[in-house]
Amino acid sequence: MCGIVGYIGHKDTASILLNGLKELEYRGYDSAGIALLENKNIEIFKAIGKIKNLEEKIKSGEAKATHPKEPANAKFTIGIGHTRWATHGKPTELNAHPHMGEYSYVVHNGIIENYKELKAELESAGHKFLSQTDTEVIVHLFEYYNNKLQDTKAAFKNTIERLQGAYSILLITKEESEKIFFFKHGSPLIIAKGDEEILFSSSDAPLIGLVSQVVYLEDGVGGIADSKGIEFFSDNYSWATLPTSKLTAQKNGFRFFMEKEIYEQSDVVSDSMIGRLSDDEILFDELDENILDGINEIKICACGTSYHAALTASYLFERLAKIRCSVEIASEFRYKEPLLTQETLFVVVSQSGETADTLEALKMAKDAGLKTIVVCNVDNSSMTRVADTTILTRAGIEKGVASTKAFSTQTVVLWIMALFFAKKRDIISKEDLQNEIHALREVPKSLMVDSDIHEKTKRLSKRYLHGHGFFFIGRDVFFPLALEGALKLKEISYLHAEGYPSGEMKHGPIALADTELFTIALMPQHLLYDKVKSNVEELSARDSTICAISPLDFELSDDFIKTQKTDHYMLEFFEMLVVLQLLSMEIAVRLENDVDMPRNLAKSVTVE
Ligand code: F6R
Repeated sequence: MCGIVGYIGHKDTASILLNGLKELEYRGYDSAGIALLENKNIEIFKAIGKIKNLEEKIKSGEAKATHPKEPANAKFTIGIGHTRWATHGKPTELNAHPHMGEYSYVVHNGIIENYKELKAELESAGHKFLSQTDTEVIVHLFEYYNNKLQDTKAAFKNTIERLQGAYSILLITKEESEKIFFFKHGSPLIIAKGDEEILFSSSDAPLIGLVSQVVYLEDGVGGIADSKGIEFFSDNYSWATLPTSKLTAQKNGFRFFMEKEIYEQSDVVSDSMIGRLSDDEILFDELDENILDGINEIKICACGTSYHAALTASYLFERLAKIRCSVEIASEFRYKEPLLTQETLFVVVSQSGETADTLEALKMAKDAGLKTIVVCNVDNSSMTRVADTTILTRAGIEKGVASTKAFSTQTVVLWIMALFFAKKRDIISKEDLQNEIHALREVPKSLMVDSDIHEKTKRLSKRYLHGHGFFFIGRDVFFPLALEGALKLKEISYLHAEGYPSGEMKHGPIALADTELFTIALMPQHLLYDKVKSNVEELSARDSTICAISPLDFELSDDFIKTQKTDHYMLEFFEMLVVLQLLSMEIAVRLENDVDMPRNLAKSVTVE
């Protein structure tokens, strides 16, 4: 996580950096800071929390330059900035970037894994550290080499050679105060050139509208930029053109982005189906006709909410396409020494396309020669540039940190993909395919927010905010949905919740059942209704407070949310998804939590 920006030019450097950081705030918002440099004048500003705190502090004059020796209000032509999601060290001003040595300053996105060894080495060479971060070693290492070699370029290259982990770095130094040194390894970094100016950013959002030419840096690429141009250390880079206008997300009258995004699901899911199915056919032009040649298994890899979409898809791939499918949490997959064979089609699912663990899993599969597909919401993201095939989910910008519409679009796209494979394998009857397509066409309707249900979740939230523990239970695809419901509640309400397959409760968790335990039971009509009902009855008999979500009346529930009767379990799935999203949001609202930017989280997790 974390977002970094940099600027060389003659405009208002501080404003450009602050605007860029606002665009990158989704990557972390524990603290923020900027450093401005011109000749030997440096100013550093830092604030805890969101970018607006930094901006307010600078405007009010309260934010004093943290570097002790320098004059304020100089004109600056160089600047670097950072918005932080804390990994090493608490979110304090001291730990906020930019970090400084005697005469150099750095912002960093990623993790330096060998920072302890480096720090010990540098301390014994007399370097004094101020923060608890891993980042600070970079700037001291640079100064160590520069003091020794008296050559900034060689010092920067030596520094990079010593760093282990994933990082993108911008470094400035008073020794050569017209330059920004940059390097990318594992975390995203883009360099852009405009009219007599050069910009850097972790994603392209801050650059759109300001410049047109960018390089999405590959791993291992770095260099030095100044007002005259850019010197790359290697030639594996290429310039690309950015779109001129930027898609921006507004709340459009909703209280929160999350609420707007829940209400938007019906529309974005319709968009995600365009060109992928007709009235009686699965089209999916993006998928190669021969994609399944030589393939006997699908493996899907993802994190968090995307993992839940992947898990849902695994039921659909096996049920509809009769192809073996396994799902892995990307952070686990990477280190389990997985056996990868070329008969496996490797699919990653990611809203951002930047999640470090998923990206690395994708690279592992690619390196092992597997065919790869990414199901992703952000075009031009790191994963779309690695995978053989990109399937975009078309959810539009998702601003709420708790993912909603990304999940529904991912699930629908994967469902269509399962049908595409079923067709290719000649495994699905015409009639079954028609039924599936008919159901898919009904999904946007199932995702429409029913105002009565929204009202009901508001009422229930009053009672549920007192819950000490929640179980979300369901079976089959309603198990991943239960996991997703529990994750949403945890993320924004900070209440403990677990998703569980309802048949597993009696193998241990039912010991927790009492009146203090709230059970949210997903009881679809079309999938194992009687089985789930028995599981819920067992919990009710042990005094658990039950909130049942079902189209069928259930007399043992303490609270009941009635969903529509439909003719396909996936339509029930999407309707219940909306209920779970609304319920967690309304509980968070009552608890007065920050719904769109919950504590400790960031939208894009670019560290492992
Ligand atoms: C939860 C949430 C996260 C993400 C996860 C993966 O609401 O948003 O769990 O799903 O960090 O992110 P992506 O999909 O961008 O790879």
